[in-house]
Formats: sequence, C-alpha cells, structure tokens
Amino acid sequence: MVAQMLDGALVASKLNAETAERCRALIARGVRPGLAAVLAGDNPASRSYVASKAKTCARLGLHSEIIELPAETTTAELVALVATLNARADIHGILVQMPLPAPIDAQAIIRAIDPEKDVDGFHPVNVGRLALKQDGFVPCTPAGVMALLDHYDLPARGRRAVVLGRSAIVGLPLSLLLLHRDATVTVCHSRTPDLAAAARSADILIAAIGRTALVTEDFIQPGAVVIDVGINRVTTGEEVEACFGGDPARLADIEKKGYTLIGDVHPRQAAERAGYLTPVPGGVGPLTIAMLMRNTTLAAERACR
Ligand code: GUN
Repeated sequence: MVAQMLDGALVASKLNAETAERCRALIARGVRPGLAAVLAGDNPASRSYVASKAKTCARLGLHSEIIELPAETTTAELVALVATLNARADIHGILVQMPLPAPIDAQAIIRAIDPEKDVDGFHPVNVGRLALKQDGFVPCTPAGVMALLDHYDLPARGRRAVVLGRSAIVGLPLSLLLLHRDATVTVCHSRTPDLAAAARSADILIAAIGRTALVTEDFIQPGAVVIDVGINRVTTGEEVEACFGGDPARLADIEKKGYTLIGDVHPRQAAERAGYLTPVPGGVGPLTIAMLMRNTTLAAERACR
C-alpha cells in the first residue's frame, strides 16, 4: 500500500482565504483583527514560529505585534504586560509563545489572559468549554488536525482513534475533539505498556509525542489514517539515510540549514503501510497557523458583536 499524502498546506490556503474574507468584512466595519505575540527569551524555534505567525497576519490583512522580552523577565512583569494587552481594544488575540523560560510561571501567565482573547485556547476557561463541548477557543493544532480530517472526508465517528501524547497543547485537546466526534479514543503516554500494540489498534493514529520517527511500521494498522504532529530536527546523513533513504533534497536541506525537519512518524515505513499520511513539513504545521488566524478573526468578530 502507498499512503495518500494529506496536504496541509493546501487545506491551510483554503482556510486562510476564508479568514481573509472575514477579515475584509470586519475592516469594512472599521475593525482590523489584531494579534499580539509575546516572545520571551531567545529560543530559535519559537522565534521562527512567531515570525511566521506575524507574516501570515500581514498576508491575510490582520494587524500583528511581536513583543520581545528578555529571558530574565519575571512572572509579575509578564502578567502586567498581559493586563495591558487585555485592556487594548485594537488587540483581539493574545499569544504567549511556549515554552517560556524556566523561572516564569507559565500557568500564571495563561490564567492572566482574558479568555475572550485567548486565541491559543490554553486558558482553563477555554479548556473547560472544550471539555464540555461549549463555544470557546479551540487550541490551534488540534483544530487544524480536525480541519484536515474534514477536508479529506475522513470521519472519526465510530472509529478507533489513538492519540500518542497527552500534552495540554495537542494530545489532550485533540482527544476531546475526537471524542466529541464519536470516535473511541485511547490516549497513550510514556507509561503506556506496549505502545506499538496500542497504536496498531487505531483507525486514526495521532502522533504527538515529540520523539523522532518513533512510529515505525509495527505501530500502524494497514490502511490507517496517520497524522504526524511531531516537529523534530535531523542533522546527520546517517539519520537521513535511515528515515528518508538518502533523499538528496533532505541532504541539501541539512547542507543549507544544518538540519531537516522530521515528525514523530517514520516517513518511509508509514508511507508503505498507512492509507493516509501527513508529511513533515507541509502537513499539520501550516494548519496550526491557519487556525490561529481564524481564532483571532473570530475573537474580533465576537468583540464587535
Ligand atoms: N508552542 C508550540 N505550539 C504553540 C502554540 O500553538 N501556541 C503557543 N503559544 N506556543 C506554542
């Protein structure tokens, strides 16, 4: 079997076109959706994610601001900054890029964000709304995965879904979304015995565990839908050989940037066994940003209702 690739970039561009249209309608009413992205410390991956979020805002017509803070910023200072953003009428969405530098109390920062501006869906109020299937903000990566399944008409109803990972950003909210779509959901984590056997029972397998190419062929039921949420870096020719069969484009990537991106799923083994598979990059990644744009526009619509 050769898996059909699920094109996240294509679905993201469709979603972004819809968001740009909603944004134009708001601007015609005198409201430009605005996103404030807070970046504390100098994590290079975080910096690059925040820069692409701001770039997409500009492309779709949203206003954005990046607020950069030193790694030494205190919890109290960051809470105070969030309070000023909560009070601003021109900012509809607040995103504090995670992970925060260690001494900062990330939960205190998340609690400080007005739930109506919490476009990441991380605030306990929005987590509760999601758990209870009420309107709120749904975290962007899980929402993006559901949009991808919808686009390709891959229903969750009555299917066995296995989620590898229970993070607050991906695994936990995605488990709830799949449950709300009537999937039978199993959430696996570091203490799950025989992870491969659990994964193999899945019609829909979500890999969100943060381990390079952990999901090998023995994790995959033939024909399963495999969604790879992992973003890891591979830096050596040996790894490229093992995971990509020495793909010259991947080797060129390492030559140019010093790394190439890989998910939690072994790309070659999965492509031969799954029915559907998301690539890395170009799978779930673009959808996360598309959902952030959509949530920010939604926040602006709700604010001027
Ligand atoms: N770090 C990794 N993913 C995310 C995300 O979706 N939002 C924020 N704020 N930080 C992240």
